[in-house]
Amino acid sequence: MSEHIGIVCGMEESFPAAFIERVNQTPGFKAEFAKLGGITETHQPPYKVLIDRISHEVPYYRIFLKTASLAGTYVINDPLWWSCDDKFFGYTLAAKLGVKVPRTVLLPQHSYIPAINPQKSLRNLEYPLDWESIVDYIKFPAILKPAEGGGWKNVSLVHNLNELWHAYNQSGQLAMTLQQFIDFDEYVRCLCIGREFILPIKYDPKQRRYIEADNFLPKDLEKKILDGAWALNNALGYDMNSVEFAVQDGVPYAIDFTNPAPDFDVNSILPRYFHVAVDEMAKLAIAAAREGRTNHKGYAFRQWMAKPTPRPTAGPAKKAG
Ligand SMILES: Nc1ncnc2c1ncn2[C@@H]1O[C@H](COP(=O)(O)OP(=O)(O)OP(=O)(O)O)[C@@H](O)[C@H]1O
Ligand SMILES: [Mg+2]
Repeated sequence: MSEHIGIVCGMEESFPAAFIERVNQTPGFKAEFAKLGGITETHQPPYKVLIDRISHEVPYYRIFLKTASLAGTYVINDPLWWSCDDKFFGYTLAAKLGVKVPRTVLLPQHSYIPAINPQKSLRNLEYPLDWESIVDYIKFPAILKPAEGGGWKNVSLVHNLNELWHAYNQSGQLAMTLQQFIDFDEYVRCLCIGREFILPIKYDPKQRRYIEADNFLPKDLEKKILDGAWALNNALGYDMNSVEFAVQDGVPYAIDFTNPAPDFDVNSILPRYFHVAVDEMAKLAIAAAREGRTNHKGYAFRQWMAKPTPRPTAGPAKKAG
């Protein structure tokens, strides 16, 4: 009997087919596009491993994948963790791990859903914001971008308060971050698979394209980048990620590293890196299926299921006092 590995994906063309073909070259393993419909609360998916490339855009897939993960399927990446992740959490975590990140401030949203009455519902919010001390900390120029973002949407470079307010006034209901601008002389995107494999690739953010280059990083800089990406992926628990660094004066700043469905398209990451991604993803999926890995061992419900304890007092709760 073959171990089944499924992939859940959107319109991307190159990666899913190549991944399936590559896994299927290994005797004893069978990869396929997962087929999903109405599922029951006791659904047991036929997959040891599911690769998730699209649940950020299809809520039904995300909910299905959480159930699959509870049933014992190893979902790459962990759908529960992905659901609560955001960029600002990443910056806080990086700072705690000693991975250098730009100075960053989380800002309250500019606008709210209609059910929120700004006069009554937002009593916890400081108003007006202390822009002076925020800007004092970040300094201009600065980058204003969403705390939960992707695809380079709503990212602005601002040079003064007027430009900052103009961009902020257009940010709607998005929670935004204001960030120190790194005037980089080098930009690196690391392809990260299975937490151990880290491949730094030269990237040109202006043209938004990867560049083929060998040995383009000095050894000490490369080591800092590998160490940083290693710590971030292991702390976040991501098996499939791209981790971006902007390098200024030899210092790598982690800029964007919560990308749980990184771009694997052959035309973006170039054939040379695409083949590496396919190979590493196939190796990871096969190893995870072989070892019977599961997600999120640290979550409360997992720990409880492993070792439930009886409630200390039988009967109704004691009266207070
Ligand atoms: N602090 C910063 N200093 C300098 N440039 C930045 C900074 N933050 C973001 N940028 C620029 O803006 C681009 C998009 O930012 P970021 O990667 O954080 O957002 P994103 O929406 O995830 O974009 P993408 O999906 O293209 O990676 C970066 O590639 C970089 O060129
Ligand atoms: Mg980015």
